[in-house]
Formats: sequence, structure tokens, C-alpha cells
Amino acid sequence: MANVIVIGAQWGDEGKGKITDLLSRSADVVVRYQGGVNAGHTVVVADQTFKLHLIPSGILYPNTHCMIGSGTVIDPKVLIEELDTLQNLGVKTDNLFISEAAHVTMPYHRLIDQASEERRGDHKIGTTGRGIGPTYADKSERTGIRMLDILDPDGLQKQLRWTVNYKNDILDKLYGLPSLDPDQVIQEYQGYADRLRPYVVDCSLKLYAAYQERRNILFEGAQGTLLDLDHGTYPYVTSSNPVAGGACVGTGVGPTMIDRVIGVAKAYTTRVGEGPFPTELKDEMGAALCERGAEFGTTTGRRRRCGWFDAVIGRYAVRINGLDCLAVTKLDILDSLAEIKVCVAYDIDGQLSKDFPTNARQFARCTPVYETLPGWQQSTIHCRTLEDLPSQALSYLKFLAEAVEVPIAIISLGAERDQTIIVEDPIHGPKRALLHANASNGCPPNSQMSKGLGSGDG
Ligand code: GDP
Ligand code: IMO
Ligand code: MG
Repeated sequence: MANVIVIGAQWGDEGKGKITDLLSRSADVVVRYQGGVNAGHTVVVADQTFKLHLIPSGILYPNTHCMIGSGTVIDPKVLIEELDTLQNLGVKTDNLFISEAAHVTMPYHRLIDQASEERRGDHKIGTTGRGIGPTYADKSERTGIRMLDILDPDGLQKQLRWTVNYKNDILDKLYGLPSLDPDQVIQEYQGYADRLRPYVVDCSLKLYAAYQERRNILFEGAQGTLLDLDHGTYPYVTSSNPVAGGACVGTGVGPTMIDRVIGVAKAYTTRVGEGPFPTELKDEMGAALCERGAEFGTTTGRRRRCGWFDAVIGRYAVRINGLDCLAVTKLDILDSLAEIKVCVAYDIDGQLSKDFPTNARQFARCTPVYETLPGWQQSTIHCRTLEDLPSQALSYLKFLAEAVEVPIAIISLGAERDQTIIVEDPIHGPKRALLHANASNGCPPNSQMSKGLGSGDG
């Protein structure tokens, strides 16, 4: 049995959906622990593409239980649309469970998110406009509405009448927006409650039972490390904790129940929304990566900003999440390049540093220090083993593994399930913490990875 957390090691959209789907094959339970419908996780199976916002990427396996944990925020309208879409595509959804403690996104959250972004002007965060920040703010302010609240018609009436009037004051006095009708909101959410009632349970209790039965639990992160509220590029972050530590808080399981943490990173970097991004390419190369990588947001359709791989944030993600290994995705997008750059350090006001500065002002002043590696200029989409990869692609991956100081266990070369090289079993293979003492570069000494990547350049 192994309980595994999958996190995004960059600014989101790393391909967590694909990797979670892949690992879900051997999972009994897949659980989302934070975020809401700001997330967009794509899973491609043969000619079908599934875009999941709240439902865990394990849903495509009929016997896998999927949970939406207490640390998430749930927009019931979007969740019901997602359920309908899956059901229409013939996907079984009766193995879905929703935490009764998860907070609910209300219409005023969406309105306040969008209005406050407009009010910020040049200082806007570039949110998805899905009401995520205001829903989490209400949770902290203790005026939030939880799933269990919407299931209690009388309680919901009282609670919502007060809250909608309170929010109407904010909508009107702060933003000059029209008021919401409390009765309409109550009626709308009672409808959602009727539809979602069968799915709502105490997820923490169910997860503990699964743990005691020695089931495999997979924790699916949304967003990414650099979007973490506490550890990301604040204030250009989301309002939850995508880092591995968030998995325990957001599901109600203890840290001793976690066996592995897997980070997902693209072979380059993307970011959607505002905020500093040292390796961003604002030239034709950035445009080419965007085009080849089809880098447009799954949730908002916005163009993603593109840049070279940043090993400084990679090392930071390894540290903050305690990563055991990395899954590197979208290697194929680099296939045609003659040269590829990797940021190995930052120049901050004339000082070189390999450490991510948590001071946002300092981070905004970082200039990347690059190493240039040769490209391979041939297609990798059909590669299925390390031996199939061009030697320059192997060298590139080895360079990344050494630069971020963690082994690469999975390489993805296309959106489909089989467009993957499993270098080292990320769940049952040797654990990094144990290997670290004997492996100066963090690569497992006996793994196929160190054999494969080591050959050719000693
Ligand atoms: P997530 O939010 O981390 O799950 O990532 P998204 O689904 O938002 O974005 C990743 C995009 O890249 C999706 O369209 C995936 O289908 C696609 N993708 C994932 N892995 C690969 C890969 O190795 N190669 C290519 N070409 N596309 C990939
Ligand atoms: P997945 O799970 C990429 C970004 C937004 C914005 C910031 C805050 O698909 O990787 P929010 O609406 O959360 O208040 O916006 O966070 N953002 C994401 N970027 N992938 C995501 O999710 C994101 N979810 C939020 O663009 O910059
Ligand atoms: Mg996404």
C-alpha cells in the first residue's frame, strides 16, 4: 500500500491531470484537497478529451473512489455541469464523494472576485474570476457556507438571508453593483443541494477507513507550488495551499499516512495570470512554445505565458513539498529546437543565487542565469523507453534532474496515456530520502534512470 500526493511543481497546468490519471490505475481512492473550479485538469484517453475542474482525475476508472475534500471550494453549478458531461460520455460517477465540510462558492463570490480585479486595475492578480479568493476569504472570516449547510433547508434559509444581505451591502456600496435577491439564491442552492445530497459524506472518516483497509490513496493537487498562498509568489497566487502539506489539512488525514510525494513539471515553464516570471520569453520563442504546446488555459482559455525551465523554482518545489521524484511532461514540445536553455541560478542585484527568494520584490528583480543545452531536433512522441530517446533529450533530462536535485521517475511525451516513459516506479521504487545519502545528484543509483541517463556522458 502507498499513499501518494501529486503536486504541481511550477505555476499550475503542468499536466497533473495526465499524471494523476496514469497513477490512478493503481489507486483505490483519488482525492482533491484544495482549489475549486479555477483548476482545469485535462485527461486524454484515445479520442476523448476530459476537462475536469473539481472531480478528481481518477473518475475515469469505474472502481476507483473519488473524493472532493474539505479543503476544496465547491461551485455546485459547475460541479453539476461536470457530472452531467461525464455521465453523458458514459463515465460512471456513483463512486464520487463530496466532503460535507467543503465550502461553497456563491454568486456573490464570483461577482466580488471579478469586481475586485477590476478595482485593482494595474495591480490585478489575473484570477480566473471563478470566485475562489472570496470563497476562501469567507471561510477565514467565518461567514462561509459549507456543503452541510446547503443540505439543511431551514438553516440555509436563515444563514443565506443574512449573508446575501451582508454581501449586497458590499456589492452596492463598494462596487456599485446591483443587489442579489436572497430568495432566488436560496431557491437556486436548494436545487443544487437536492442534486448533490447523495454524494455528500464525511470524507475524512471514509479516507481513514480506506487507510485502515490498506487501500492506495492518491491526493491530486490543483494549481502549483508557486501559486501557493503561503509559499508562492504572493500576492500573485491562489487562495489555497497546493503544496504537499495542504493535502493533509485539506482532507483530514495525518502526515504519517503519506508515503510519497510526486512533483509534476513541464520541460519548460508556463504561467497564466499576472506576477513575476523570470524565465518568461516575450519573443518568438515564447510564441512558438505557446503554439506548439497549445498553451491556452483549460478553464479560462487565456493564453499562457511561456519560458524556459527554471531549476531555481524546481529546487524550491523539491524543498517545499519534500518531493521524492519528478514527472516531467511535454518534453515533445521541445522536439524541434536546436538549443534549449535552463535557468540554473538568479542574478539578484548583482548577486548570484540558486535559492528562490520569498521576498516578492526581490523575485521580480531576478534575472535568470542560463545554461544552454543542445536540442535533439527529432520527434520523441513515439519513444516508450529511455533507450528510444535521442541522446540529447536524455542529457537534457539528466541535466534537469541534477539541477533540481531529485530523480525523474516519469517522462511524458504527449497527452495520451501511452505517450509516457516510466523510468522508475514512482510509488513502489526506492524512496529518495533513503537514497539521498548515497546519491550525490539525487538520482537513485540502481534505477533505470541513472543507468539510462548516466550512459553516454559517464
Ligand atoms: P493540469 O492543470 O496540471 O492538469 O494541466 P492542464 O490539463 O491544464 O494542461 C496540460 C495540457 O498539456 C493538457 O492539454 C494536456 O492534455 C497536455 N499534456 C499533458 N502532458 C503532455 C505531454 O507530455 N505532451 C503534450 N504535447 N501535451 C501534454
Ligand atoms: P490547474 O489546477 C494555472 C492562477 C490564476 C491567477 C491566480 C489566482 O489547472 O493547474 P484564482 O482564480 O485561483 O484566484 O487565480 O492563480 N490559477 C491557475 N493557473 N493553473 C491553475 O489550475 C490555476 N488556478 C488558478 O491564473 O494567476
Ligand atoms: Mg490546468
